[in-house]
Amino acid sequence: MDEAKLNDFMGKLVSDMGAAAMLANVILGDELGLYKAMADSRPVTPQTLAAQTGCHPRLIREWLNAHVASGYMEHHDGHFVLPEEQALALAIEDSPVYVAGGMMVVASMFHDKDKLVAAMRGDGGLAWGDHHPCMFSGTERFFRPGYKSFLVAQWLPALDGVVDKLNAGAQVADIGCGHGASTVVMAQAFPASRFTGFDYHAPSIATATQRANEGGVDDRARFAQATAKDFPGTDYDLICYFDCLHDMGDPVGAAQHAYQALKPDGTVLLVEPFANDTLDENINPVGRLFYAASTFICTPNSLSQEVGLGLGAQAGEARLREVFEAAGFRSFRRATQTPFNLILEARR
Ligand SMILES: C[S@@+](CC[C@H](N)C(=O)[O-])C[C@H]1O[C@@H](n2cnc3c(N)ncnc32)[C@H](O)[C@@H]1O
Repeated sequence: MDEAKLNDFMGKLVSDMGAAAMLANVILGDELGLYKAMADSRPVTPQTLAAQTGCHPRLIREWLNAHVASGYMEHHDGHFVLPEEQALALAIEDSPVYVAGGMMVVASMFHDKDKLVAAMRGDGGLAWGDHHPCMFSGTERFFRPGYKSFLVAQWLPALDGVVDKLNAGAQVADIGCGHGASTVVMAQAFPASRFTGFDYHAPSIATATQRANEGGVDDRARFAQATAKDFPGTDYDLICYFDCLHDMGDPVGAAQHAYQALKPDGTVLLVEPFANDTLDENINPVGRLFYAASTFICTPNSLSQEVGLGLGAQAGEARLREVFEAAGFRSFRRATQTPFNLILEARR
């Protein structure tokens, strides 16, 4: 037994336990409006923050102390500051790095623990709709900042000829659309085009319809319940999958359905979690997060459906290329990437 190695590992575990406990505190701060109250980076005392947010001052002091001990806040003479950089991640929902809302995905993993125990001991399946409801809103809030920042500005322009078609008026399908965050962002940017979001989870379709209404795009974005293998239509210019293809039981079947639903010169936009092609290449903070989430969410979802391919959230470009080649697509390339996403283009 190597005592130095043991000490290193214990240090890592204590740090990870602290991180998990802090995530619960981040969820509190998000729900109670504490970060938003500190978003201007002006110093607060526990008393002023408690008065401003209607919370108990003693608990606020403990919450602030936890943030200082975690490096999330600074303190001087009994005053606490949320620095601008931390505010971007925790308080400002429109910032590209806002992550506080997405913590509910992790919360759902804890709520769903017993279901995962059963899946692990059983057939491996846990369907999307069987997660705690905070999974659905958490997923929307986790992904929306990235779509708002990058989808129209960077991802669509990285595809061959797609922006011109969208400006002129294109037919678009957004498969596995969830709460429709990506659909609404595209519909707001391209008023001449028509967008249909499909998802097999009926409650998500109801929320997406509401989001299109709130976003002022219900004239051009509509939503319907359908699976990736039975959605209607045969003349799409663009078919999109945002962080959902690897969740499906039969991604090859889904890609085959997209092949026949596209116009001959149409395009598939496949947005997947960033991953390299091997486990050894994914030993990094992003790979760690996505493998851990995939154990609870993506892989059991795939195993709950027909075929049950179980690609997992770290499939990587080479494996995804095999899926599209098996479905008959002749062209498949990485259009662009972010630290969290691979943006891939498939064409017939
Ligand atoms: C991780 S969520 C992503 C949701 C959305 N695209 C987004 O980016 O916010 C995966 C979505 O895929 C949907 N899904 C999974 N399997 C599906 C299938 N076979 N057909 C249609 N939708 C599916 C789930 O219901 C869920 O809404």
